Amino acid sequence: MTSRPQLPPQPNDSQLKQALGLGIGIWDYMEKNQRELGDTFTLKLPGQGPMVWTAEQDVIRDVLKLREDQYDASLVQLPVDVGEQNTVFLNEKEHQDARKLIIPSFTTNLLKNRAGVMQEIVEAHIDRLQLGERINLPRFVGDITLDIICYTLLGLREGARKERYKELMLNWLLEATSDVNFTLGATVGARRYRHFLNKQYLRRTEKGQMGNGRKGLLPWKRAVDLKVQLAALLREDIRGIRARNAADPAGCANESHVLSLLARATDADGQPLGEERLISESIGLLIAGHETSAATAAWFMVWLQQKPAVYRKIREEVVASIEHEGELNAVKIAELPYLTACLNESQRLTPSAIGFIRWLRQDTQLGHLFLPAGTAVLPNIYLTQRDKKIYGPDALEYRPERWLEDGKKFGPSEFLPFGGGRRACVGMNQGRQQLRIIFAELARRVEFSSEFQSTNKLPRSRMIGGQTEPEKGVWLTVQEVRPAQYGFAVLAKTA
Ligand code: HEM
Repeated sequence: MTSRPQLPPQPNDSQLKQALGLGIGIWDYMEKNQRELGDTFTLKLPGQGPMVWTAEQDVIRDVLKLREDQYDASLVQLPVDVGEQNTVFLNEKEHQDARKLIIPSFTTNLLKNRAGVMQEIVEAHIDRLQLGERINLPRFVGDITLDIICYTLLGLREGARKERYKELMLNWLLEATSDVNFTLGATVGARRYRHFLNKQYLRRTEKGQMGNGRKGLLPWKRAVDLKVQLAALLREDIRGIRARNAADPAGCANESHVLSLLARATDADGQPLGEERLISESIGLLIAGHETSAATAAWFMVWLQQKPAVYRKIREEVVASIEHEGELNAVKIAELPYLTACLNESQRLTPSAIGFIRWLRQDTQLGHLFLPAGTAVLPNIYLTQRDKKIYGPDALEYRPERWLEDGKKFGPSEFLPFGGGRRACVGMNQGRQQLRIIFAELARRVEFSSEFQSTNKLPRSRMIGGQTEPEKGVWLTVQEVRPAQYGFAVLAKTA
């Protein structure tokens, strides 16, 4: 072990150039630094401490083993006001207790119960597609996942209240994660900006000032208006759930949407959670699941457009499942092995999150590195998942079969699109299930054309809402929409 902590090598670029490298064409910038400096390097952004990006297995394995007292999550540089009591900012026991509250909302049984409704929601979106229509896939999927979150979080499938929620959620998400707000966050410091927005929100809520939800002279005005309005709806619902629960606990116990589960839960001291805490967790789940799913879907569709044979094979697998089950069983669809392998392969080569971050509280030994206190260390998801030492000489090829080969398993430090360790994504199974159902249904029923069809060049990536997405979106033209009964033909013949 070295006696004094040291930072790995840094590029010669100015801090501004490094910030631009991360903002525009982040994958190219990662590859350039890897070529010049190796698998682990340090970046320095204006106004921030050192960030160590690593694709070395011994280091990543130790990052995943870090104890909660070794890093400080309150330093998360998110310029969006999700509320300071959110799980992502909490540390140690508070963080573990918060996860214990959220995880029961995503158990296997609850997910299985939700699968059928997820499939119906996807079906309805596909039914609305018109021949020749052009859609931007991440926005199409974003719209579906908003319907899914309205159902999962709020128990709402239709009606005016659901539409009001959906409109507020979408507009708040777009505004809060806009380039303007991210740039302001980067300029004044993401954390400082987030605290400022939260103060504005609390002050306006206290005075009952809902705002008109339109843009104003101040660039943050609309985001604050929309958050105040969204939180007011959530507050009404929380009070409604608690009133129902007081009047008829047995009746309320059947409710399985996340807001109801959380509103009826108690903390480690047996106390119900405060309203602001519940609002913060709800808004946090909304943002955590939205752009991540949209970005993951965007890259997956690029691969499927490039490889029509893979898309066809997914369709055949879905149809075979219908034939085998005698029905379209959404739980079975969400478990199909080839579809799962195809999504894994897309998340491997083109992950929506390029890394995840831990701010070290003290000098820390991680693998062969001894890093100083205050360093932010990031397992580099993108470079790790393209490493030939792990994935073999064809690591850069999109080859779903690698996930199906006998005895092939990739470990938590080798495949990590959902992060890992004590802070791994709590919505991983929900996220995977909804994406598999969406793509199973698209492959079964819809044919698209696009600029990516049968090409082999990936579009450049850019950051949208903290996720990497294809720079100009994924624009598709609808070529064919098959009927909802497609694939049931064999059943009909034998009936
Ligand atoms: C394809 C979709 C998704 C991707 C790629 C993704 C990715 C991630 C990543 C990389 C992290 C950081 C983990 C770490 O620091 O180790 C994370 C955390 C988190 N995700 Fe996801 N996520 C997705 C969907 C969802 C969904 C649908 C939800 C909830 C409905 C969700 C809720 C969360 C929460 C609450 C955390 C914070 C966990 C904590 O700090 O303890 N995610 N996610």
